[in-house]
Amino acid sequence: MLILGIESSCDETAAAVVEDGRRVRSSVVASQHELHRTYRGVVPEIASRAHLERILPAIHGALEEAGCGLSGLDAVAAGVRPGLIGSLLVGTSAAKGLAWALDRPFLGIDHVEAHLFAGVLESDPPAWPALGLVVSGGHTSLFRWSEDGSLERLGRTIDDAAGEAFDKAASMIGLEHPGGPALERLAADGDPNSIPLPRPMLGAESLDFSFSGLKTAFRNAVLAAAGEPDPSTDVRRAAAPLTREAKANLAASFQSAVVGTIAVKCRRAIEQADPPFRAIVLGGGVVANASLRAALATIAQERHLDLRLPPSAWCVDNAAMIAAAAHPRLLRGERDPLDLPAQPVSRWS
Ligand code: KG4
Ligand code: ZN
Repeated sequence: MLILGIESSCDETAAAVVEDGRRVRSSVVASQHELHRTYRGVVPEIASRAHLERILPAIHGALEEAGCGLSGLDAVAAGVRPGLIGSLLVGTSAAKGLAWALDRPFLGIDHVEAHLFAGVLESDPPAWPALGLVVSGGHTSLFRWSEDGSLERLGRTIDDAAGEAFDKAASMIGLEHPGGPALERLAADGDPNSIPLPRPMLGAESLDFSFSGLKTAFRNAVLAAAGEPDPSTDVRRAAAPLTREAKANLAASFQSAVVGTIAVKCRRAIEQADPPFRAIVLGGGVVANASLRAALATIAQERHLDLRLPPSAWCVDNAAMIAAAAHPRLLRGERDPLDLPAQPVSRWS
């Protein structure tokens, strides 16, 4: 069974063909990072225009790489939520148009759920039930994922997502957008214990996250490192003269606080689980971070859990995860109407 997946929720235009929900026959991702760099963040109008230019080449590329024509497809799926509405509309409309013209089922997929499917590409299903962790630019969520495909949200961020916090911290110390990978590279040369930063836990039992206070504490730490007493100072300007070593220490301390918080919450979720988890499945751009990967590998080893760590290319936004998420729904005979709306928020927000 071949499903064409299409993804255009933010600043990646992607198309992929996935066989039987697991085997990635092709995956094309056209990133727009260069278009948004000057603005230090994604500009919605620029993103949707770029998606329009890139969507058909991405689909053609995916079909060619997969060695199948349009008529070989069994269904067309697109990420319909959450995301930038103008961007989502491009991929959703392309998928609906193709599904209608080919007379194949259309499936609208929740992007947050799809991130979990990146963890099961090119492999057998995990041992159930699994602890699902999505750490992306827009979400930081913990799920119980059961064998029948059902998801129960156990925790979520009450303010900023981890990726968003990485991006904002990186911007404060003058790193380019998207900040997560740049901050990770810089952190490799810093001391993670050099600057004390908070690890908000929101109570002993809570599985929710909060990264907004950490962001403020990081801002204060940058100003302190720069010897700037005025809290209203432009933090990027204050950070500019800092040495590379000082910035690396800030980056390493920040990364350690985020990873440490996520690790505590995962351990808690595993301890609280009844029946116990048998696997950990991860997805989302921040899961490309080596320090987070190492922390989760340690937890999985300690608890003897089946760990599903997708390769970096499938952690960040891609369309293979969209096609994979559509597969179980297609097997159940589901299809979505062609007037299914694109929506800015996830049902897991
Ligand atoms: O999943 P994703 O591609 O898009 C969303 O659904 O949001 O995640 C993008 C986020 C960005 O915030 C980016 O800075 C972060 O993932 N990210 C990283 C790394 N690679 C991407 N954060 C930390 N370390 C990384 N290596
Ligand atoms: Zn994503």
